[in-house]
Amino acid sequence: MQSIVRTSPNIALIKYWGKRNTIKNLPAVDSISITLDNLWTEMNVIFSSDLSNDELFINEKKQNNISRVKNCIDSICGEQRDYASIMSRCNFPISAGLASSSSSFSALVVAINSLMKKKWNTQLLANQAGSVSGSAARSILGGIVKLNNEPEKIRITQLLSPNDWPLRVVIAITDKKEKAISSSKAMKLSADTSPFYSSWVEDQNDDIKEANSFISKKDFEGLASISEHNCMKMHSIMWTTRPSIVYWNSTTIDCMHAIRDLQRNGESVFFTIDAGPQIKAICLPENEEKIAKKLNEIKGVQSIMTSGLGSGPIIEK
Ligand code: DP6
Repeated sequence: MQSIVRTSPNIALIKYWGKRNTIKNLPAVDSISITLDNLWTEMNVIFSSDLSNDELFINEKKQNNISRVKNCIDSICGEQRDYASIMSRCNFPISAGLASSSSSFSALVVAINSLMKKKWNTQLLANQAGSVSGSAARSILGGIVKLNNEPEKIRITQLLSPNDWPLRVVIAITDKKEKAISSSKAMKLSADTSPFYSSWVEDQNDDIKEANSFISKKDFEGLASISEHNCMKMHSIMWTTRPSIVYWNSTTIDCMHAIRDLQRNGESVFFTIDAGPQIKAICLPENEEKIAKKLNEIKGVQSIMTSGLGSGPIIEK
């Protein structure tokens, strides 16, 4: 009983930060993201009666705390099941603000689904992945994806396919270390203590509508403006959390300034940053080379990864 699934992380342009239900892990706000293609997690899942417990290896290293993974398998298969041996390989730094949980948990859910022959549809897969990690729901689809809150569940929709609008992403990695505080913990702290949290939640639908309309017109400059604005609002919530949460380092800020310079010179590019210090520069294909070169020249940038938009999970076996 083996399944191998490859999925890619997604990067939110209109962000998810905060939960309306922590037990079901339902997000407090709708969000819009792009699913990548060149960054990936490959999840190899084997169920066997020979195993005496579940085991998880990430890039060949055995993991000790696997309760999230165990709970995810139990909630799909029930507790009366064979144990699972899971080998996960990732071609980018994990737990460092590059959305590794989105690719990992979407891959896990699709792999188990395929092994158990459940034939769940997209929405069921998204709800299952989202119940483990909110952003993972969006990696169930490719291209530009919208996540809507519905009563007691979420719904994902593809707004544009990768071919409809072949955007590119240049990622400047400024620090590969694991983040000091997980997104889940940080979101809870923000909801409890940031004086601006409630207006963040209230205003999100305006940002979603605006982004949606720019996406439907493929208006890059419009999408750039609302995405950067929404990103900075999310980080303002983090910064005004007590104690404050600052995922950036000084190179992150240098990269932001470099992107501002590029914009002033007429390049079609904008930045977004998640729960980590890496900069993601979204651009049009013709601008990619210049942007990668400029970010790579910045002191403190450790490496550059580039990606296009991907088409969602691939079941390899
Ligand atoms: C900053 O999906 O990692 O990347 O649901 O607690 O696992 P959990 O959170 P997670 O949070 C992602 C937050 C973000 C913004 C986003 O992807 O929308």
